[in-house]
Amino acid sequence: MSGVEAGRLADKVAIVTGAARGIGKAIVELFAAEGAAVWIADLHGAEAEALAARIRAGGGRAEGAYCDVRSTDSVLDAVDAAVDAFGGLNVLVGNAATLTAPATVEDLDEADWAQALAVNLTGAFHLCKHGIPHLKRAGGGSVILTASQMARVGTPGSAAYCTTKGGLVQLAKVMALDHAGDGIRVNTLSPGGTATDRLFTRYGSPEQAEAQWGVTMHPLGRLGRPDEMAKGALFLASDESSFMTGADLLMDGGYSAR
Ligand SMILES: NC(=O)c1ccc[n+]([C@@H]2O[C@H](COP(=O)([O-])OP(=O)(O)OC[C@H]3O[C@@H](n4cnc5c(N)ncnc54)[C@H](O)[C@@H]3O)[C@@H](O)[C@H]2O)c1
Repeated sequence: MSGVEAGRLADKVAIVTGAARGIGKAIVELFAAEGAAVWIADLHGAEAEALAARIRAGGGRAEGAYCDVRSTDSVLDAVDAAVDAFGGLNVLVGNAATLTAPATVEDLDEADWAQALAVNLTGAFHLCKHGIPHLKRAGGGSVILTASQMARVGTPGSAAYCTTKGGLVQLAKVMALDHAGDGIRVNTLSPGGTATDRLFTRYGSPEQAEAQWGVTMHPLGRLGRPDEMAKGALFLASDESSFMTGADLLMDGGYSAR
């Protein structure tokens, strides 16, 4: 048996949304290294396919394709494709989120508010709606929704983002209750500031993101790394978290401890 086959997610099939870049990409890479077959669903379809090809070249199992989580049909296509490719589904990771420009509610465009809800919250709903029947068929599974420390604390100018992240925590709790009897565990993963394009775009560069957000706001004195968040997702996906459901795994470098 190879190392990958003997991994902590051996024989598991996972679908990850928002998976071509950033935290989602790190989750895909770690899940594949731990033996999972992974479907990579992202708006950047070519990047998803390229990531899958790199994983296959390294001996792992992955496929990737375009998916827009705002569309229920697009998510259904991705779920069906994952099941066709790998024979079932055991783990759902709803990770896609859009970047919303800072604004107070008074100034926030209606379209920006709607976009944040459509991607961050309804996108996760779509994944769960179409994925849960397959987890039931498999006799159970694990659902992980990427929330944020911003599900617990507010930050100025981020009404839409914080609202969607708080909503994901509640969505996970209700689904945990609804599907405990199906052997399905549902949890959120809440990263703090993490070094990805999301923050690099917001702050203008990796260095400025580190200085203006990482160092100043996180008691551990830095941004988190995508691979650190992926370890949290692996814990939630694997049997190591077998008595955990309806919970939020906070990995925020102490941001919300103040
Ligand atoms: N980076 C952080 O500081 C941080 C902190 C807390 C929580 N999070 C959360 O972690 C998750 C990942 O964040 P990240 O920093 O890696 O983000 P990112 O912006 O670097 O990557 C997001 C990915 O989602 C994809 N995506 C966007 N809209 C999509 C859509 N409609 N359909 C499918 N895919 C779509 C993008 O193409 C991209 O690959 C998000 O849910 C985010 O809210 C991030």
